[in-house]
Order: sequence, then structure tokens, then C-alpha cells
Amino acid sequence: PLRNDLDQLVDVKGGFISREIFVDADIYRQELDKVFTRAWLLVGHESLVPNPGDFYTSRMGEESVILCRDKKSEIHVFLNSCRHRGMKVCRYEQGNASLFTCPYHSWTYTTDGKLQGVPLHRTLYDGVLDREANSLVSVAKLCNYKGSIWATWDKDAPDFLTYLGDAKIHLDQALDCRDGREGGSEVIGVHKWVFPANWKFAAENFLGDTYHNPSHRSVDLIGIGPSAAAGKKGRRDDELEKAEHVWISFPAGHGVHSAIQPEANEYTESFLDNPILEKYFRHCFEERKRRLGEGARLLPFVGTIFPNTSYHGRQPRGLCAWHPHSPTSTEGWRFFLVDKDAPKEAKEYLRRYYMRYSGPAGMTEQDDMENWLYATAASTGTVARRYPFNYQQSMGAYVTDHPLGGDVSKQVTEQIARGFYRRWTTYMQGGDWHELLGSPAGKRQAAE
Ligand code: FES
Ligand code: FE
Repeated sequence: PLRNDLDQLVDVKGGFISREIFVDADIYRQELDKVFTRAWLLVGHESLVPNPGDFYTSRMGEESVILCRDKKSEIHVFLNSCRHRGMKVCRYEQGNASLFTCPYHSWTYTTDGKLQGVPLHRTLYDGVLDREANSLVSVAKLCNYKGSIWATWDKDAPDFLTYLGDAKIHLDQALDCRDGREGGSEVIGVHKWVFPANWKFAAENFLGDTYHNPSHRSVDLIGIGPSAAAGKKGRRDDELEKAEHVWISFPAGHGVHSAIQPEANEYTESFLDNPILEKYFRHCFEERKRRLGEGARLLPFVGTIFPNTSYHGRQPRGLCAWHPHSPTSTEGWRFFLVDKDAPKEAKEYLRRYYMRYSGPAGMTEQDDMENWLYATAASTGTVARRYPFNYQQSMGAYVTDHPLGGDVSKQVTEQIARGFYRRWTTYMQGGDWHELLGSPAGKRQAAE
């Protein structure tokens, strides 16, 4: 039975959200059942499986899935569980296979999911076993969006672009080449680590919570960013200060923090100690301006695509999936992206920069995780659970008729988090796709 007290626990109008939704085991089970089986989830990136037979095991909710490329080079996502007794048919993180052979009784499946080999088939199963009906369980829908692979278990889900809505142009900048060409990125590395916090802390942090910047003060002082100077502001910071920052809550539950640069934007990176990098990034900047025109003014920082995919639109550019393990445990996956055809030096520079900045040992991400895990731990207590979190920041401070779509705010706002939890509640209550998309356009498209 569905929890019938969610409207009380999530008081979006009043700006209070109960800590129960971050720690309660029943609510967590309901999330797996109602959110993670319906929403579009990030599974991986095509560059992780470049050749026929390549596979990469991933997760959707708590469950293991196989992202693989079949003999005809088509990409699939299957539940990593044998149809006989459920054994994982693939126990490796990544590799190449012509067949998936179940380690338990050796049923074999082709890379397009069909049950091929059944030991002693004639003697034991002849005339009974329907191979077609015992294929690997495939996701209901799959989308290769500019190389990023998304999937959903819900056959009635809208197509991915409808789901993404106006958040598209922001996510695009994590996926497109720096010079403004569409797509063309590759994963240069993946960080995976488990941390003791509810998955929503991480997802929410990327909903434009720039309010938490004081957490990163020590890193800012050291100045580890590209072109950032230790202890003082670099040219890039000046440029960012002149930009108009926007925080946007989209009706489907996504949220972003981006900025619009003034017209006369200038190249502000600086790699003076490395001529190859300097040349490459300056070239990207000029090409981007030429290709995108006005569009080049949009600078995306971070965002979360409902429910558990976040992105960094600028360095360290990439996608993160927050995989739930339990109410108070999450596995973070960070896919770092670079332009496929960037010079080797640029890729190597970015690889080092990403490692220093993000992930379990990254100087910045450590700060964030400290916050999430102590907040989770301090919310599990009997007394603590009686007191809801406050979400009243920038109430009502947004416009709805902005060309960027959604609720657009010019100041940091928890309107995005309120929108996220409004949508979360709709999923948890079993809402239909009209309600889940939450916009007139979305409703029309879902109905078609
Ligand atoms: Fe896979 Fe038996 S569990 S063959
Ligand atoms: Fe942070």
C-alpha cells in the first residue's frame, strides 16, 4: 500500500520537508518501486562500449543492468539476472563477450539478449521451454542522447526529449564538444564510491544549491581551477561575476544553475604555461562563438535531471548518477567527459584536474560528502526526526514567462528543490505521466 501521509511530509507550499523521506525504510522501498522503475535513468555512455560485444555493467535503482553493444552494433540494456534462477549472467564491470554464459547452470544469452544455449535442452526441456519468453529482461525504452545512454522500465514513459523538456540546452553543454559541435564526447574515466548518505542529498545539491559555496572556501582559497590563481580571483572569476546567473526549476522535477554571459564575452581561460592547451581552449572558444552565436553566452554550471542524474556543464565536465543502496547509503558514479578529438595533452590535463577536483578523493567533492553524510547521520535520531528541514529560501522569487522556460530565479533559490520534491511526491503517489511532466506542453506531448 502507498504511504498516504506524503502530502503532510512534503509541504512544498509551506517550505518544510520531513526528515523521514531521507531516512525511512518504507519510504525508500516505495521510491525504488514508484520512482526508479518509471523515471528515465542514466545508465552510461556509448564510449564505454565502442565495439560489438563490448559490455559495461551498470545500475538502475538497486539493480544491476548490463549495457552492451550487440553484433550489429546496436546498444541494449538488460537486467543482469538469469531467467533460470536469477544468477548474475555478467559478473565483470566491463569487457567484451560473444555470449553471456550464466555461471550457475550455463544457460547462455546472445549480446542482443536472446536465450541461446540451454544444456541438455532436448532431454530436459524439449517442447516446453519458450526461448523467446526467457530472454534477458530488457528495459522498456532506451535513448542514446548525444552519446549518453538513458533507460526506463516504464513502457508508457514519454520519449527522453519530452522528459527532458527545457532542461535540454543545459544538459547539452555537458555532452557537446567545447567548440559547439553536437555530441562528440567520450568518457575519460569513471569514479565509483559508496557514501553513507541518502541519494537525495546528492541530487538536491546539484539542483543549483550555490548557497553551500562556503563549504568549499578552502579549495577556493587554494585556487585549483583552470586559470584560478591561489588566494585571488582570476580573469575567469571576473567574467563570471559580470554574467547574469539563473536558477531554474523545470516542471518535470529537473533543476539547473546556469549563467548568461554579457554579449562581449571574452576568452577567460588561461593556460599560459602550456601552449598546446592554450591553443586548444582558445580555438574551442572562438569556434563555439562562431557556431552558436548568441547561444554561446549560456554557461551551464550544474543541474540534476530527475531523479538521480546530475551534471557539471563546465570543467570538471561530466555526468553523475546517484545510485541508491539503502535509505542511508548511496553509490556515486561520476563519468568524466572530454572531447573525443581533443589533443592528448588536453585530455591528460583534464583527467588530472577532474581527479583533483571531484570524486571520493577530490578536493571539492569531499566537502560536499561531509555535509551529506553528517546531515544524514544527524537526521536518523528519534528526536531529530520530529523536526522537518526548512525549504523556505527565495519563496515566490521567480518568473514563469522567461525564454529559458520553467520557474526562473535571479537569486539562489530552494524553488528548485521544492519543485523536485513536488514531482517526487507525484511519483510516490503513482501519478500518471501527464502529472509527472507537469507542464501544458508536456501534457500535450504525453497524450499524443
Ligand atoms: Fe542461470 Fe541456472 S541460474 S542457468
Ligand atoms: Fe559542492
